Amino acid sequence: MPLLIGVPAETVDGERRLSVVPDVVKKYQGLGAHVVMQVGAGVPAHFRDEAFAEVSLVDDVAAVFGEAEVVLCVQPPTTASIAAMKPGSVLLGMLQPWADAERVKLLQEKQITAFALELLPRISRSQSMDALSSQAAVAGYECALIAADHSPKFFPMLTYAAGTIRPAKVLVIGAGVAGLQAIATARRIGAMVEAYDVRPETREQIESLGAKFVDTGVAAAGTGGYARELTDEEKARQAERLAKAVGQCDALITTAAIPGKRAPQIISADMIARMKPGAVVVDMAAESGGNVEGTVAGEKVWINDVLVIGPTHITSRMPVHASEMYAKNLFNFISPFIKDGALALDWEDEVMAGCCLTHAGEVRHAGVKQILGL
Ligand code: NAI
Repeated sequence: MPLLIGVPAETVDGERRLSVVPDVVKKYQGLGAHVVMQVGAGVPAHFRDEAFAEVSLVDDVAAVFGEAEVVLCVQPPTTASIAAMKPGSVLLGMLQPWADAERVKLLQEKQITAFALELLPRISRSQSMDALSSQAAVAGYECALIAADHSPKFFPMLTYAAGTIRPAKVLVIGAGVAGLQAIATARRIGAMVEAYDVRPETREQIESLGAKFVDTGVAAAGTGGYARELTDEEKARQAERLAKAVGQCDALITTAAIPGKRAPQIISADMIARMKPGAVVVDMAAESGGNVEGTVAGEKVWINDVLVIGPTHITSRMPVHASEMYAKNLFNFISPFIKDGALALDWEDEVMAGCCLTHAGEVRHAGVKQILGL
């Protein structure tokens, strides 16, 4: 029997991505695996059932979870679906490992080998598996377009018969993968861009994209290439220095995040009140608490004459490419462990082991264990 890979339809409202695309299915088949997929799973991402050749299509989601030895997903499956999985089978996807202790306990009890791509050790070798990065790039691009689309001003400089329109000023806060993509996209549309991050190494990255680094004098590099939380004194200094740049921009895009924590609140109501009339704020961190005071996830809120947008499911705005990038990340992660049509996990592999949330009835990730108090 070949290795059975299961692809269920995503169940979270607003999620349109899929964990495989037709080209990637062919690659799994090339390794001797067989794919069983829920009927219509690809439709929200614009992949029809007919596009998947030699895939077994089943109506019943429980059959996908109950039969597969490896289940690929985008968002965490429902409790009922996890309960239907075979003990010892593998679940691979963005499992939001810090979000729900009950879900982690269920994975543990069911003896599921769960790999959460949020836990991927970010080393050079793992870049092609890094779904956080690929999806952040999609989100950053989208946020720049959302800002341009809602701005009452042109982003580029525009010369017409009666004169010249100055380019819009865009400020990007948080220059990780998403922020750098937002900067690059806003620059391509022609805006003047400034950007800020607490990690000092971002200055060079920001400047190499043609944007200006806003220096607040606050540096807070944490471990593993991530930022750490700021102290109250640092927060006050950051707010004071950022207020001027915020007050001068036409569009503000915020992408700041700290792994496993609520998004840092960086922009106060007072800073919003001092923004230009007609300014637009796109808070990419809306779903994890927001970088901006007053953001409502999934809503557009007017605060005085400033439009504050809290987009959700940003990557689902372009599900074709987001799915393609994501599906390749999953394939690059799991394919080295598919040999002659069978699964052969290698616990000596630091990327695979580091990404493991639960295995053989244990919670394997120390950080998650600590945060969830398990
Ligand atoms: P993230 O999504 O965790 O955070 C986004 C950005 O917010 C980060 O740049 C962070 O420094 C910034 N931030 C946090 N608190 C802030 C505050 N109070 N004010 C302003 N900015 C704040 O980060 P992401 O995009 O996942 O990347 C984090 C790091 O990982 C980067 O150093 C990146 O270069 C590195 N990385 C390494 C990879 C690899 O080697 N395989 C792949 C992708 C990223």
